[in-house]
Amino acid sequence: MKLSVIGCGYLGAVHAAAMASIGHDVVGVDVDPAKIAALSAGTPPFHEPGLPELLEQAIASGRLRFTTDISEVHDAAVHFIGVGTPQRKDGGGADLTYVDGAIDALLPHLAPGSLVAGKSTVPVGTAARLATAVHAAGARLAWNPEFLREGFAVKDTLEPDRLVYGVASDDDAADDVAVLDAVYAQTLETGTPRLVTDYATAELVKVAANAFLATKISFINAMAEIAEVTGADVTTLADAIGHDARIGRRFLNAGVGFGGGCLPKDIRAFTARAEELGRGESVAFLKNVDEINLRRRQRVVDLVVDSFEGQVHGKRVAVLGLAFKPDSDDTRDSPALDVAVRLHGLGADVVCTDPQAIDNARRQHPQLEYAATTSEALNDAEAVVLVTEWREYRDLDPAAVADLVARKVVIDGRNCLDSDAWRARGWQFHGLGRP
Ligand code: UDX
Repeated sequence: MKLSVIGCGYLGAVHAAAMASIGHDVVGVDVDPAKIAALSAGTPPFHEPGLPELLEQAIASGRLRFTTDISEVHDAAVHFIGVGTPQRKDGGGADLTYVDGAIDALLPHLAPGSLVAGKSTVPVGTAARLATAVHAAGARLAWNPEFLREGFAVKDTLEPDRLVYGVASDDDAADDVAVLDAVYAQTLETGTPRLVTDYATAELVKVAANAFLATKISFINAMAEIAEVTGADVTTLADAIGHDARIGRRFLNAGVGFGGGCLPKDIRAFTARAEELGRGESVAFLKNVDEINLRRRQRVVDLVVDSFEGQVHGKRVAVLGLAFKPDSDDTRDSPALDVAVRLHGLGADVVCTDPQAIDNARRQHPQLEYAATTSEALNDAEAVVLVTEWREYRDLDPAAVADLVARKVVIDGRNCLDSDAWRARGWQFHGLGRP
């Protein structure tokens, strides 16, 4: 099938490459010429394992190309909208400028009967609003949310847990479902569950899923706060409650908390939308979820400061990790970068490092000092703070690191190090929610 993908960031670039890899003829469109040039050359402008290979193969097959010229989408049967919906600058709500801009740009080029399938995460009610204009142009609108995780984006796109189609409540909706089924035929053949619903439910599925995940993380981080005043160990607690299949162990890793381009802004946008709908109280708990999450960043900072008996000014602190999670170069709302900035603000002599995210971090915070390698960052450090659990950091040898640093103090902001092994090598070790 001929497909277009409007917006070639994490979501759109991966979706475009994945759709081409399963045999579709895809054109990816973005307003950013640099992004289009990079993608056309097979080099994604962000770090995503597996994507360069997928892009290269898809481009070589002749089934994938990228352009800044929206008119090139005119013969596509399905147009996926994958533009961003960042947090508004003036509040917690979602900024829909890019979604509205994409639809406006697309309208003049829509072939009659073609389908626009929104993938962006939008406030509930958006699809119904957009449908009026799309249907008036003789095309159709569906909302088909995307659940990909950065770092696993290729796998999540090709082998999703589920497919959700939000379709119009009219007689033509069955045709829209058939079109999406044809797009995803290969995925559906493997038994992937597919749920067909109305627009509002499809929009809510995405925000509800992210709100649930954020709540799960903040729940265990709240338990970490209790553990810290009782001497309990939150990691064992998580293992024990996680054995209950109703709870499950995944997303119960206590630490410096969640960040990234999705969970933080999605829970804020959900709160803002619920308030607009007069149902703010229904999701009032998400404010606590957000607050607990932000408190953990300060907790890491406090542990560092306490290790210097309150005098962190001028102390050399190595910060390991800048990305919001491993296998990503994304520093949007990154707890790791936030910890570095807060310590720097307190006058600490902060040296940060990350295997992939230094360039992005430097653009946001040029005032910080960056080291290209872990050993450079560790050199003469008086405290080591691990805030993104890259394998390289998880595998650090406490004996080898001890030879580099000036003082053996480690703060494990991701509860990913073996505390016994580090203590056995003479380290003062601090975890989050651990004795
Ligand atoms: C998330 C959702 O998982 C995905 O389904 C949605 O489409 C987009 O948002 P992503 O932002 O890529 O994906 O990251 P995710 O793996 O969910 O991690 C989010 C944050 O939570 C990271 O900062 C991570 O470090 C943190 N986290 C995750 C924890 O602190 N503890 C955990 O147990 C799990």
